[in-house]
Amino acid sequence: MAKKKPARSKSKAALRKVVKLASRKPASKLKAKAPVKAKINGHGLPKPSSKPFGKDGKALDGIRILDFTHVQSGPTCTQLLAWFGADVIKIERPGVGDITRGQLQDVPNADSLYFTMLNHNKRSITLDSKSKQGMKVLERLVKSCDALVENFAPGALDRMGLTWERIHQLNPRIVVASVKGFGPGPYEECKVYENVAQCAGGSASTTGFRDGPPLVTGAQIGDSGTGLHLALGIVCALFQRNRTGRGQRVLTAMQDGVLNLCRVKLRDQQRLAHGPLTEYSQYGENIPFGAATPRAGNDSGGGQPGWILKCKGWETDPDAYIYFITQAPVWEKICELIGKPEWKTDPDYAKPPARLPRLKHIFNTIEEWTMTKTKFEVMELCNAVDIPVGPILSMKELAEEPSLRETGTIVEVDHPTRGKYLSVGNPIKLSDSITEVTRSPLLGEHTDEILSKVLKFTPAEIAEIKASGATGEAPKAKMAAE
Ligand code: COA
Repeated sequence: MAKKKPARSKSKAALRKVVKLASRKPASKLKAKAPVKAKINGHGLPKPSSKPFGKDGKALDGIRILDFTHVQSGPTCTQLLAWFGADVIKIERPGVGDITRGQLQDVPNADSLYFTMLNHNKRSITLDSKSKQGMKVLERLVKSCDALVENFAPGALDRMGLTWERIHQLNPRIVVASVKGFGPGPYEECKVYENVAQCAGGSASTTGFRDGPPLVTGAQIGDSGTGLHLALGIVCALFQRNRTGRGQRVLTAMQDGVLNLCRVKLRDQQRLAHGPLTEYSQYGENIPFGAATPRAGNDSGGGQPGWILKCKGWETDPDAYIYFITQAPVWEKICELIGKPEWKTDPDYAKPPARLPRLKHIFNTIEEWTMTKTKFEVMELCNAVDIPVGPILSMKELAEEPSLRETGTIVEVDHPTRGKYLSVGNPIKLSDSITEVTRSPLLGEHTDEILSKVLKFTPAEIAEIKASGATGEAPKAKMAAE
C-alpha cells in the first residue's frame, strides 16, 4: 500500500491554502477537502518559496483568534500567534480593559509597559460579555474564529455561559485553549499568579543557595513560559484540525509548564536514589544530600561544573560577573589560559573526578584570573579557544546591544499616548514569515471595525448593540449628555 505523505512534505503554499480554506468556514459547512498535492523538488523536499525573503505572507495568515486573555500568561500566547500573522481580537471589559493597562504605570494616562509589551499586533474590542447584546457579539465571534484563548480563573468562562459544549455547538471547528494555575486535582480551583506557579512547579525549591530560602527567578517561567506552551498546543490543535475538521480543547496548567522547564531537577531527584549528585558543589564540600533535589546555587545543571565569577569592576558594577564552565574537553586550555599549566598533569586536577572535591579552590583560582579582565575580555579570550562562558548582561546592556536590534529581538515601538518604547520582539525567527511588531491597541480601538467589517453586523444592529451599553459607549454618551 502506498504510504501516506507526511504533512511536512507539502509545500508551504499548499499548506497555507489548506489552513486558509479550513479557517474561513465554520466546520458545519465545511466539506472534507482532498489533500492538496505537494510540489516537491528533486530531493523530495518542499520547494522553497519563489517570493523574496519574508515576502510570502505570514505563517498564520487566515487564522483568527478570539483573545479572551488578560495579565501575562494568556497575552504572551496570543501575542506570539499575532506575530506569526494570526488576526488576534482581544476582548476587553468596557471602561476597564485588561487590568495591566493601568498597572505599574510609568507615563500618566498612557497604557503601561506591562500591557503594551504583551499585546502587540492585536486589535481590541470592548464588550460586556455578561450582557445580552455582548453575548450576541461574542457568539458571532466564536463562530468566526479558529481559536478562543482564555486565562480566566477556573469556571469563569462557564459562568459567562460559554461552556465547551456551547462553544463547540456554535463552532465545532474552534479550538478552545486555556491557561489555568493547576490541572485537574486538589488545587484546580485556585487562582494562580507567576510566583505561585514558580513555587508549585518545583522551580523555587531548586533555585537559590543551599543555606538560604527558596528563590523565585526573574524569568517569568510561570506566566510567559506557560503562554509559550499554550501557543504550541494551539498550533498543534489547528494542525490536527486540518485532518479531523474538528476543534479540541487545549489546557496548559502553569504548574505543569514550570515543571516541564524544571525537568532536569526531576532527573536529579531520581538520581539521588542511586547516590549523591557529584556535579553539585555540595558533594565536593562533603555535605550530605537530603531526600529532595537541593538548591544548587550557581552550579551548572548540565553535569559540567560551573560557577559565576567576579570580573574587573565587580566592586562597583553589580553585573561585572561571568559564568565559567570547567568543561572536561577544554580543561587543558583552561589551565593554559589561567596560568596553571601544571594542573594539566597534576593527579589532583587532571581528571574530572579528582577535581570534584576541589571545585571551590579551582573556581577561586580561575576567579583570580577573571578579576583582572572585564567580562567581555574574558568572553573573547575564552571563546577563542572554545571555553564556554556567559557574561552576566544587565537589562541596560541588552537594551543597547546593536545585534539584538538588528535581528528584531529588541525593537523600538511608537505608541500614540506614550511615545517610543523598547520591547522584546519575536524570539522565534521564520525565514518566510518575518515578524513586524506593531503597537498594542488602545482600549476598544477596533470595536467599530470588528463589529462591521469582521462580524458584518448591519448599522442598525450596531446601533442596537451600542445603545445597550454592551460595548461601553452608551453609558459614556449618557454621562456626556447629562
Ligand atoms: N465582560 C464582563 N465580565 C468579564 C469580562 C468582560 N469582558 N472579562 C472578564 N470578566 C469577568 C469574568 O467573567 C469573571 O467574572 P466571575 O468571577 O463573576 O465569573 C471576572 O471578570 C474576573 O475574572 P478572573 O479571571 O477571576 O479575574 P481575577 O482578577 O479575579 O483573577 C487571575 C486573575 C489571573 C488570578 C485568574 O484569572 C486566574 O487564576 N487565571 C488562570 C491562571 C493565570 O493565567 N494566571 C496568571 C495570570 S498572568
